[in-house]
Amino acid sequence: MTSGNLLTDNPALYEARFPDPGRLAARWTEDCLRRHGAGRRVLDMGCGTGRDAAALHTAGRTVTGADLSEAMLTHARARHPGPQYVRADLHGFDLGSFDAVVCLDSSLLYCHTNDQLDGFLASCRKALAPGGLLVAEMRNGAYFLGRTDLLDRPAVDEFAWQGRTYRSTTTLTVDRTAQLLRRTRVWTTDDGSPPTEQCSAWRLLFPQELRHLLAAHGFEVLELHDGPGPRTEPPWRQGELPGTTTDADRLHVVARLCTL
Ligand SMILES: C[S@@+](CC[C@H](N)C(=O)[O-])C[C@H]1O[C@@H](n2cnc3c(N)ncnc32)[C@H](O)[C@@H]1O
Repeated sequence: MTSGNLLTDNPALYEARFPDPGRLAARWTEDCLRRHGAGRRVLDMGCGTGRDAAALHTAGRTVTGADLSEAMLTHARARHPGPQYVRADLHGFDLGSFDAVVCLDSSLLYCHTNDQLDGFLASCRKALAPGGLLVAEMRNGAYFLGRTDLLDRPAVDEFAWQGRTYRSTTTLTVDRTAQLLRRTRVWTTDDGSPPTEQCSAWRLLFPQELRHLLAAHGFEVLELHDGPGPRTEPPWRQGELPGTTTDADRLHVVARLCTL
């Protein structure tokens, strides 16, 4: 068994495993930015393969994509040109001035500790022009209160890519002390390579905790809801307005930096 992160080390495989051919995540983000009148300059923190950053660029935004993974950044520069791509850490960054910071598909939950969350929000506050927006989309920690459906048994998944079959077995556990959702994923392929084990974790962030943190960092919450969004079932469709509950497994937030 080897360790590593098969998907973030192989961005092309990541895109094959999680396709978004209609760029729904970027269209949902653009809709949030437009509805709240955001200016052009957007920072996509935890931009991954760069596909959302590039779609926002195509929509007319001036985009910077930032990620910690060099493999992701190399892929983004080659395959999703347009934005500027830079290496930066969510936990603390200084990348210039923006009208919006976006943070999609649970990237924000790589802030595991309170200090890291404070570091992220303090950096957003410094990065944003007065009245700037934070738009984020992630797992909802509250979903796990009283529900065990995602924890009861490993999830097994199989998909084919470039002539190989990849099989993953994913186990999720709740670490109540650290308030993290821990994930162990074992990958096997049919080409004889040894299995790869990948361990990662997301902060279990609760809606009212997020509301409180945002207020403490000078943000006014404009929207906080469980859908519709780009990764809800059914997914968001153009023109649909945000809901008002925070019960289901995805959490969406739009917050504005208050002007003094
Ligand atoms: C689940 S992916 C989401 C990527 C992209 N936002 C999307 O929606 O496809 C999470 C991304 O966060 C990045 N990441 C994890 N920890 C980070 C950190 N501390 N600072 C910056 N990026 C980080 C990973 O490299 C990965 O690209």
